[in-house]
Amino acid sequence: MIFFAYLKLNLQNMRNFKNKRIYYLVSLILILSLCNIAVLNVQAQIPKHKSTNPAKKISPHLFGLFFEDINYAADGGLYAEMVQNRSFEYNPTERREWLPLSYWEYLSPGFSYGRISVETAAPLHLNNPHYIVLDVEHVGHEEKHTGESGVGIENLGFDNMIIKAGENYNFSIFARQLSETPISLTISLQAPRGKVLAEDKITIDSKNWKQYNNSFTTTESNDSTALVILATTEGKFALDVVSLFPEKTFKNRPNGLRADLAQVLADMKPAFVRFPGGCLVHGDGLGNMYRWKNTIGPIEQRVEQRNIWGYHQTGGLGYYEYFQFCEDIGAKPLPVLPAAVSCQNSGGTWRIGGTGQKALPMEEMDEYIQEVLDLIEWANGSVNSTWGAKRAAAGHPTPFNLEFVGIGNEDKITPEFQERFKMIYNAVKAKHPEITIIGTSGPFHSGEDYEKGWQFATDIEVPMVDEHYYTQPEWLISNQYRYDTYDRNKAQVYLGEYASWGNKLKNAIAEALYMTALERNGDVVQMASYAPLLAKNNFTQWKTDMIFFDNNNICLTPNYYVQQLFSLHQGDYYYDNIIQKDVRDSTLAASCVQDSKTGNIMLKLVNVGNTAKAMKINLSPFKKFIPAAEQIILAGDAAVENTLENPKNIIPIKSSINVSKNFEYSAPAMSLTVIRIKTK
Ligand code: AHR
Repeated sequence: MIFFAYLKLNLQNMRNFKNKRIYYLVSLILILSLCNIAVLNVQAQIPKHKSTNPAKKISPHLFGLFFEDINYAADGGLYAEMVQNRSFEYNPTERREWLPLSYWEYLSPGFSYGRISVETAAPLHLNNPHYIVLDVEHVGHEEKHTGESGVGIENLGFDNMIIKAGENYNFSIFARQLSETPISLTISLQAPRGKVLAEDKITIDSKNWKQYNNSFTTTESNDSTALVILATTEGKFALDVVSLFPEKTFKNRPNGLRADLAQVLADMKPAFVRFPGGCLVHGDGLGNMYRWKNTIGPIEQRVEQRNIWGYHQTGGLGYYEYFQFCEDIGAKPLPVLPAAVSCQNSGGTWRIGGTGQKALPMEEMDEYIQEVLDLIEWANGSVNSTWGAKRAAAGHPTPFNLEFVGIGNEDKITPEFQERFKMIYNAVKAKHPEITIIGTSGPFHSGEDYEKGWQFATDIEVPMVDEHYYTQPEWLISNQYRYDTYDRNKAQVYLGEYASWGNKLKNAIAEALYMTALERNGDVVQMASYAPLLAKNNFTQWKTDMIFFDNNNICLTPNYYVQQLFSLHQGDYYYDNIIQKDVRDSTLAASCVQDSKTGNIMLKLVNVGNTAKAMKINLSPFKKFIPAAEQIILAGDAAVENTLENPKNIIPIKSSINVSKNFEYSAPAMSLTVIRIKTK
């Protein structure tokens, strides 16, 4: 308006300006303000939203974790099993070069000889069809420098095994004696060149499959240890499920999790954990869908399979372990089950011949729906119920208190999907009205599947919808008001997967800015989780991740610290208008929440710009706060990231700050500040 008035004035009356200097000054001011408006319009559309002052109830479980077995997050990662291909189930459908003996070496030191074969007749369990047979024909003389002789195998684990001095390692194996006399085995942990770090012996003395166990302690640490199994008597025997675990798993759970990795997740105090994916859930074709029943019970009875991300999944980290982990860290479990359709990229849509989404045949739907209902009984049912009894038998008689179940993962919204989703949804709703079912809306923040997914969810009244989007940091800045205009009468939102493309500080701070908006909209956004969570160095399929690791080290990215700061400082009430900033500056954002249990007030102030900027804080709605507050700042150079070699380039710095009813805070360039204020 001002611009058009000015133009008119300019054209008609230019000659009337007596004082040219005033004319140029007015022109300059108007042009500058016009540029400013244009820039801001590009950056973020600010909607008119009602002030919620003084307080609005928001989700008490807004920030949690998304765990997917991608990037070797489970086997070789969080799951503490040290033996790779423990059940000889690797095969070429996973990697062209993989075979049942992959990651195993045949050994025959001291001029011993024999034969090794892979067999399937009379396996340990039908779910675990392959095992090996060793036929020791001759045990030679002890080798000079290692003192070894015999026939056997060795395993180097996932890129070598790490052994720590003074710690215990639990070994177990299933074996069956196939010749007439018992077989003696020497089990050892060996450093390179055959240096024995720990050793023990077992005798295979049963003609039926039997489990044998040992425990090792070493006095020396070693980063390239191998597990060596050598038969020192002649004869024939079968072996399967060769396992080695550190005794010190997270919370010392048997078949447990790598303690250091699990700890950094626990340190986030996530409100929930979603598992087991991601695309892993709906799988590469129907036969590859993640079926939860295949992942419970004794490990030798679990169904191993190809992971959609191109490696192997033992199911050792299965539903029982996921639920147990959630309980151990005080997070709500959020299992996501397939909606009876496979991933739309099945067979690889990028290649000619990809099959696309496949749907379970209708005649299999009753059984599939029962599988979904059984999960709820398994998690929450009494020990007298069929599935509750299985949970109890696994060691957990008390229920796991399941509240949420996701159905489908960013599926293509086809009629086949809709039909099946509706069948599952109706059955769960009828039998378990206490469970919140989460629907899905495609892999993007907008577009066909997003629109159709939301329309479908609205039509059938799904209570919550899962949204996924990976974007540029600029998108997060310009779309920070996305949820302010969401219809509060429709489904609530679970932002199940999101991240900006990158692990630099600027990516993390853009995410922080967006997260203040999630808090502001915590009445409609019920849950949010960054994705993916874990990535093993050199074994990644997805570049931008929250935590990188190798067998020894962990690198927490700036994105991790942002997630952690929001997670540790969650509240259940949102206060508007506490923090004043230049509303036209979309590189600044802030939020104020309060935790009604502790009374603590948490301010989050974000500056994604390149210079420090001031914000004004007015704490007058809070009557009795303590001025001595805690302040945590994550700041630095926009382009810096943490690496496994230099994991501390960017870390949050804690200090104290004195707050008053009205104070000004200068938010450093490229920063997130959390101020935690106690109340009396
Ligand atoms: O997080 C990585 C992948 O991104 C997930 O498996 C999938 O759901 C999404 O497309």
